[in-house]
Amino acid sequence: MKIFLLGATGYIGGDLLYLLNKTHPEYEITVLVRDQDKAAIIAAEYPRVKIALGDNNSADVIAEEVVKADLIYHAANSADDVSSVQSISHALRKFSTDKSIHYIHTSGTGLLTHDAGPSQPRHGKIYNDITDIDDITSFPSAADHRNVDEIVLDLATAEPERIKTAIVCPAVIYGTGRGLVKRSSLAVPFIAADVLKRGAGIAPEGEWVWGNVHVEDLSRLTLSLMEIAATTNAASSTALWGKDAYYFVEAGESDWADIVRQVVHEAHEAGLIQSEEVKYLNKTDAVEQGGPVYAYFFTNSRSRGSRARELLDWEPVQVGIEGTIREAVMAEASKLGML
Ligand SMILES: NC(=O)c1ccc[n+]([C@@H]2O[C@H](COP(=O)([O-])OP(=O)(O)OC[C@H]3O[C@@H](n4cnc5c(N)ncnc54)[C@H](OP(=O)(O)O)[C@@H]3O)[C@@H](O)[C@H]2O)c1
Repeated sequence: MKIFLLGATGYIGGDLLYLLNKTHPEYEITVLVRDQDKAAIIAAEYPRVKIALGDNNSADVIAEEVVKADLIYHAANSADDVSSVQSISHALRKFSTDKSIHYIHTSGTGLLTHDAGPSQPRHGKIYNDITDIDDITSFPSAADHRNVDEIVLDLATAEPERIKTAIVCPAVIYGTGRGLVKRSSLAVPFIAADVLKRGAGIAPEGEWVWGNVHVEDLSRLTLSLMEIAATTNAASSTALWGKDAYYFVEAGESDWADIVRQVVHEAHEAGLIQSEEVKYLNKTDAVEQGGPVYAYFFTNSRSRGSRARELLDWEPVQVGIEGTIREAVMAEASKLGML
């Protein structure tokens, strides 16, 4: 199978590339990379992987690679990057061939935060990706990631026999990735760095809940979809691909204040901060003192990934988020030169 992969130098795409090389050295992989130095790192470690130099705006490069591929996988700012997803969509529609082609797109459960309404702690429905699929695929355009999801969902109905799409939509991802360049995620490392720098934690008042999943469990799910794409014929795979193929990826959920407390505890235990102080703030004060990212910790994003469990037999097997807090704290302490 020929795969065109976007995001190889990132956290999600890098972990997947590691797993693909380990489990399927026979797959022919081309990666889109925008930086020569990072391309050299990938070429040195994975000599069989081909490099296409370009970025998400390189419509010609993307089109050329899409036409050659059997499967396109996108995790290069994919949840928000309109340009690259439009280029993929145009190329898939334009270069019609007899063979079916698969597109696995990475979105994110930030999509669900629009439902926070008048925001309330632990408010909000738990969206199930099978029973609530009609709601999930018709949220208002203003919802996070929705403008890009819409392009993929349009593509899903364009020629469903030939172009087979799946949207993989992870909750908060945690754990150290196995990629060659970026190995850390966004949320927990951000909190860890902030706690280490200020010597205390800022936590939202109330319980604000998001789902989460270990990066290795996410890669395993994506790998399953790729293996199915490589082996099944079009007729047998209708439930897995297309307009309803929206896969929430979660292993459970936790509340942000709890994560902040755990970060503070681990940092204190390691002797990196002097006390276990946590300041509980309302949203205005948290954003004022901690910066705009803190607004996210006053939202809920509650998802249930039934589709992967039922159709792919997927279950999370990695350690829960709390089991990775210490390594995240130590990694950020190392980056800050505190060790
Ligand atoms: N991490 C999470 O918790 C999480 C959860 C749910 C959804 N997501 C979504 O998943 C996607 C990937 O996330 P991630 O955590 O893997 O991010 P990441 O570690 O920051 O990786 C981003 C990747 O995209 C590439 N990239 C970004 N902008 C590009 C551009 N204009 N042209 C070409 N390449 C570009 C980066 O290349 P360079 O190395 O050159 O910068 C890198 O390979 C994002 O859309 C994110 O919103 C992430």
